[in-house]
Amino acid sequence: MTSATRDKLRIGFVGTGFIAHFHLRALVGVRNVDVTGVFSRNAANRERVVQAVAALGLGTCRSHASLQSLLQADDVDAIWILSPNDTRLDVMRAIHAEVTAGRSKVLAVACEKPLARTIAEAREMLRLAEDAKLNHGYLENQVFATPVLRGKEIVWRRAASATGRPYLARAAEEHSGPHEPWFWQGDRQGGGVLSDMMCHSVEVARHLLTAPGAPRGSLKVRSVNGTVANLKWTRPAYADALKKRYGAAVDYRNRPSEDFARATVTLTDDDGHELMIEATTSWAYVGAGLRIQLELLGPEYAMEFNSLSTGLRVFMSRAVTGAEGEDLVEKQNAEQGLMPVLEDEAGVYGYTDENRHMVECFRKGETPLETFHDGLAVVEILMGLYRSAELGQTVHFPAPELETYVPPVARPRGG
Ligand SMILES: NC(=O)c1ccc[n+]([C@@H]2O[C@H](COP(=O)([O-])OP(=O)(O)OC[C@H]3O[C@@H](n4cnc5c(N)ncnc54)[C@H](OP(=O)(O)O)[C@@H]3O)[C@@H](O)[C@H]2O)c1
Repeated sequence: MTSATRDKLRIGFVGTGFIAHFHLRALVGVRNVDVTGVFSRNAANRERVVQAVAALGLGTCRSHASLQSLLQADDVDAIWILSPNDTRLDVMRAIHAEVTAGRSKVLAVACEKPLARTIAEAREMLRLAEDAKLNHGYLENQVFATPVLRGKEIVWRRAASATGRPYLARAAEEHSGPHEPWFWQGDRQGGGVLSDMMCHSVEVARHLLTAPGAPRGSLKVRSVNGTVANLKWTRPAYADALKKRYGAAVDYRNRPSEDFARATVTLTDDDGHELMIEATTSWAYVGAGLRIQLELLGPEYAMEFNSLSTGLRVFMSRAVTGAEGEDLVEKQNAEQGLMPVLEDEAGVYGYTDENRHMVECFRKGETPLETFHDGLAVVEILMGLYRSAELGQTVHFPAPELETYVPPVARPRGG
């Protein structure tokens, strides 16, 4: 890792889909950064990113037809891995190969959630990053969500200091289902909603419970208890609707992944206090759109946030008709009636501050708040939860058997 501060960080994107465009919107609110390169397999997708970078004033972005070309570019300092979960390791191996062979000047890598599909993969991601001497950041946006930044700061400064640390964090993230087929395929994604969305909930809860400035390792996971269920998408009409939308590869009559997951995680802090995380996630919530609910409770106080309890709402009568969209909130489900609107989704969901933090850390050679170590710790909890759900028992940590564990829905066919 270099210690010299760079005036500007030049980012290359791997991936051109939903989250790549969210990051671009967020980067408009970040200084000292340009997006100078992009790679994905499809030239038209890359061109859309090139055009968006130009339109948003984020520099001059070049489209690269191969990952190696992006990594070898003279104008790329850091890589944002924004491609599907089953491509992570190959992308990281390529970065490692190019950097260690001296063909790439890349000095840092940031990776979207979840860091990997299994503990073995997550450990390899971390090993490759550290072996190539790269600075690394784990992109968990909820840790940087504006209500989390502000709420955590107030609770710990005013209430915890006066009456004692918080002991219970509740986190929920729910929506009506993902937008691309690979999310629904357990082996490609790594699981169902537990892998896809519980990663957010356990990490934001862990972050809220961690004293400001203390290392995340100051909290020790003692046990995890998980439940998974198929509430909606295995119903024949919905399974058939998925197949119609995504083709035969998404077969929820015969090969479903869970669309509901619940977790309790018990932890202790350095003083031996017992702490609790309660989390619930689903792809079976049909409300106005994506709903994130967060709570932090302590002896004399409570904090709460609900992403759909917005200050701004609009009402549109049945006479207002038009195209479906996600222009009011992410995973929007309706265009009529009384509807919540998030004025600044990139900010409230945490993408702006997340990108600002990563850019500043990488520019200055500092360790980010969220690294691949945290991504690995999250995967350890997720695998414990899958194992607990499979056994119908609480799993106590440390749990060495999880090192080689693959969730049932992620195992190869016949496995
Ligand atoms: N933080 C959050 O809340 C959040 C939200 C959504 C997603 N995510 C995460 O972000 C990642 C991407 O999700 P998404 O929603 O953006 O998915 P997506 O819309 O399906 O986009 C995936 C992108 O990856 C590209 N791609 C596929 N295979 C590739 C490969 N081998 N090498 C390089 N690029 C490849 C695809 O473009 P081509 O077809 O052109 O290759 C596409 O642009 C996932 O890990 C997901 O978990 C995070």
